[in-house]
Amino acid sequence: MQSTPPPKTFHVRSFGCQMNVYDGERMAELLIADGMAQADERANAELIVLNTCHIRERAVDRVYSDIGRIGKEFARKDGSAPMIAVAGCVAQAEGDEIMARAPTVGVVVGPQAYHRLPAMVAAAAAGRRGTDTDMPEIAKFAALPRRRRSGPTAFLTVQEGCDKFCTYCVVPYTRGAEISRPFKDLVDEAQLLVEAGAREITLLGQNVNAWTGQDEASRPVGLEGLAKSLAKLPELKRIRYTTSHPTDMTDALIAAHAEIPKLMPFLHLPVQSGSDRVLKAMNRSHTVHSYLALLDRFRVTCPDIAISGDFIVGFPGETEAEFEETLTLIDAVGYAQAFSFKYSPRPGTPAATMDGQIDPAVMDDRLQRLQAAVNRGQMAFNLASVGRTCEVLVERSGKLPGQWLGKSPWLQSVHFFGDAAIGEIVSVELVEAGANSMAGRLVA
Ligand code: 5AD
Ligand code: SF4
Repeated sequence: MQSTPPPKTFHVRSFGCQMNVYDGERMAELLIADGMAQADERANAELIVLNTCHIRERAVDRVYSDIGRIGKEFARKDGSAPMIAVAGCVAQAEGDEIMARAPTVGVVVGPQAYHRLPAMVAAAAAGRRGTDTDMPEIAKFAALPRRRRSGPTAFLTVQEGCDKFCTYCVVPYTRGAEISRPFKDLVDEAQLLVEAGAREITLLGQNVNAWTGQDEASRPVGLEGLAKSLAKLPELKRIRYTTSHPTDMTDALIAAHAEIPKLMPFLHLPVQSGSDRVLKAMNRSHTVHSYLALLDRFRVTCPDIAISGDFIVGFPGETEAEFEETLTLIDAVGYAQAFSFKYSPRPGTPAATMDGQIDPAVMDDRLQRLQAAVNRGQMAFNLASVGRTCEVLVERSGKLPGQWLGKSPWLQSVHFFGDAAIGEIVSVELVEAGANSMAGRLVA
């Protein structure tokens, strides 16, 4: 690679999960702290960061096609093109391959090493392309700049990595082993986010409820202890957490839903399948019964809790009858929302080489039926909310004049008209249910 002037403007594009969104924000902050500016649009950026996701289909193909497109579409008059940095989980999994195949990529940096991004960009500009996919323990967080920017809702990564090794999943390989960030660092980061305007913080982790630490009195605590301390920040009005794993759920976290008013009545608890045989083959370490029993315990403490989940259809060997067990589970739970995916073989995971890979047409059909079941549940949940008056955190203005968009405590999108401002919590009566949102009326 020839040396070029160091890039002055950048654009970060994040794919995939909320943790990638968090990482994307932190990379932007790093580049700004290094003297770069965010480009007004991607076409004008001198550095483009592709913050990639490897969890499902064609992730790698998409990265290569993006790299190709950027080279062609964004080429400048003098023949130069923006520098490309590939970050995220595809970078972790395919780093050397990307470097070998894509000469226009200057930097490949994994999710645990991106604190080195500015130095790597400078080196690439000087003609030294580089890959860093090391996984040092938490080194990156200490090296990141102080948080200075936030909208009314913010993400805060508290835990990373996964030791569960579900047989379909690439995360334990791309994000590494489970680690918890220290309590004090998290309280400090939350404080800065709140000072910058955050009114709601969502605590993030691949297994967020596996977070452990020591509180201000050096007592060992779980996520409930962290939530309790964050709830003491007066300007912080709401706390959420995602994604939880059934195996790591504790009585203390369940109880916290009754004890901490700022902890929102919402639980994202992926189940993946409604068949015990499939769950075992997935190495999920819970059964349908234990999952339902766990939800019952939540509902005792927090009767109106909204439940969300993740599902995979077409796991190798999944029979029609086993798939129908998943539909039965969906009807039994009454999900307020859920994410569903066609099984995608991930290179290097045990399930990728299992017998009984399912025909794509069968997967399509199952996905459609599953989504219909989820939509029925979501509509029923929304209809049951009509007539309730609740607090809405205003996140942005709507398309129509005087219209506002925000979220209910149950994470429903709510739109309403009236006197409000971004970042305010207002009282809204839910008057009409849609499939994906609620219409509300501002209550004086
Ligand atoms: N194929 C399809 N879906 C997957 N997920 C994880 N790995 C795969 C895969 N190989 C889904 C799971 C997980 C969510 C984040 O992505 O449902 O909970
Ligand atoms: Fe992947 Fe399973 Fe870990 Fe979730 S719990 S990140 S699905 S291995």
